[in-house]
Amino acid sequence: MAATDKEVETTGFLGWIDRRFPLTSTWKTHVSEYYAPKNFNFWYFFGSLALLVLVNQIVTGIFLTMNYKPDATLAFASVEYIMREVPWGWLIRYMHSTGASMFFVVVYLHMFRGLLYGSYRKPRELVWIFGCAIFLCLMAEAFFGYLLPWGQMSFWGAQVIVNLFSAIPFIGPDLSLWIRGDYVVSDVTLNRFFAFHVVAIPLVLIGLVVAHLVALHEVGSNNPDGIEIKAKKDEKGIPLDGIPFHPYYSVHDFMGVCVFLFIFAAIIFFAPEMGGYFLEANNFVPANSLQTPNEIAPVWYFTAFYAMLRATTDPFKIVLMIVVALLGVLALLRARGKWRFGLPVLALLLVVFMALTESKFWGVVVMGTAVVSLFFLPWLDRSPVKSIRYRPLFHKVFYGVFVFAFLVLGYLGTKPPSPASTLIAQICALIYFGFFLGMPFWTTRGRFKQPPDRVRFKPH
Ligand code: HEM
Repeated sequence: MAATDKEVETTGFLGWIDRRFPLTSTWKTHVSEYYAPKNFNFWYFFGSLALLVLVNQIVTGIFLTMNYKPDATLAFASVEYIMREVPWGWLIRYMHSTGASMFFVVVYLHMFRGLLYGSYRKPRELVWIFGCAIFLCLMAEAFFGYLLPWGQMSFWGAQVIVNLFSAIPFIGPDLSLWIRGDYVVSDVTLNRFFAFHVVAIPLVLIGLVVAHLVALHEVGSNNPDGIEIKAKKDEKGIPLDGIPFHPYYSVHDFMGVCVFLFIFAAIIFFAPEMGGYFLEANNFVPANSLQTPNEIAPVWYFTAFYAMLRATTDPFKIVLMIVVALLGVLALLRARGKWRFGLPVLALLLVVFMALTESKFWGVVVMGTAVVSLFFLPWLDRSPVKSIRYRPLFHKVFYGVFVFAFLVLGYLGTKPPSPASTLIAQICALIYFGFFLGMPFWTTRGRFKQPPDRVRFKPH
C-alpha cells in the first residue's frame, strides 16, 4: 500500500491502536505538529482557559446533578442540602457558580482578542461564526441554569425574560406560554429548563467547540501581527514563523492555567458571591410567586444587553425609526443594481412596522441584534490589515469608545433605571450599533502601517 502523509510508523501497543484508530496521526495533526505562530501573547491564553472552564462546568455539573432535585417544592432545599450536608458540596457548587461567571470573563476577553487582531477575517470566518454560536449557547445555558436554584431572582428573572417573548407581534403570547409550559413560571418550566441546562445545550455546546477547533486547525491560528504564517514555509512545508503547539504552547498555556486557578480559587474561597455580582443576595430567598423583588437585575454578564433592552423606550424607538429612514435614503443614493430601490422600500416598510408595534418588542429586537451583529463582523470589517497594530490611530480610538460604551451599558444594567441613566444607555446603544453599521465605511479610511513580512517576535 502506498504510504500517505497521515500514516505513522508506530510499533507495539500504540502500533496496534494506530492500525485501528488514528491516535498518533490525530495527536500529530492537532498537537505535536500543529504549527502555531511563535508570537502569541497574553491574549492567546483565553481559548485554552475557556476549554478548562468548560470541563470544570461539566464535571462539577455532573456532581451537582447527583443531589439536586428538579422539582419546584424541593429544588431550593436541595441546593441548601448540597451546601450544608453533602461532603464538599459547597465547593462543587461554588466551583460551578464561580465557573459560570469566569466562563463569561474568559470568553469576553477571548472575543476581544479576536477584535483586536482581526481574527474573524478571511480565512477564519467560520471559526468566528462557530464562536458566536458558542456565545449564544453559553447565554442560553446560563439563563436556563439560573432558574434551577429556585430562588427569588431565579424565578423573577425567568418570568421577566420569558415575558419578553410575549411582546412579539401576533405569536408572542402563545410563544411565551409554550416556552413556560404554564401561565406562570412553574414546576413544568423548571423541569424543561433542567433538561435543557443539563443535556440539550451542553451537547450543542460541546459539538460547537469541536467544530470551532476543527475549523481553526484547518486554516491555522492568526497572531498579534495579523499576517498569515503559512505564506512563508521552509522546504519541508513548515511555516517559518510556526512552532509546534506541543511542547511550546502546552507549557505556555499550563502557566496561564496556573495563574487562572489561583484567581479562581481565591474567588471560590474568599468571595464566592463577589459582592452580589456572581451570586445575588435575593437568590438566597426561596422563590415566591406572590412577592416581586424590588429590583430584578440579571447576572453581570447579561447586563449590557439588558441595559439596551431597557433603553428602548418610546422616544428611543423614534430615534431608531429615524436611523432606519436615513439608512434607506443612504441606500437610495449609494446602492447600485436591484438594491438601489429594494433597500429603501425595505427601510420604509420597517419604519411603518415600527410605528405600529410597541417599543417593548423593539427592545427585544435591539437586544437580539446586539448579539447577532457579531456574526457579521467578518464582512463588515474591510480594513486592508487585520491587526490593530497596523491600523490608523482613529481606529484604535473607535475600538476604545466601543468597549467603553459596552462597559458603561454593563454597569447601567446592574442599577435601577433613572432618566439620566436611560439617556446614557441610549447613547451607548447608538455607539454600539454605530460601530458595526459604520464599519464598512470607517475601516477602509485612514493611513495604515505596512505589516511586516515576518511576525515580530522578541524571545524572553
Ligand atoms: C466555550 C467557549 C470557547 C472555547 C472553549 C474556545 C476555544 C478556543 C481555542 C482553544 C482557541 C485556540 C487558542 C486561542 O487562539 O486562544 C480558539 C481560537 C479562536 N476563538 Fe474560540 N473558544 C470559545 C469561544 C469563542 C467565541 C465566543 C468566539 C467569538 C465570538 C471565539 C472566537 C475565536 C477565534 C476568532 C479564534 C482564532 C483566534 C486566532 O487565531 O487569533 N471563540 N478558541
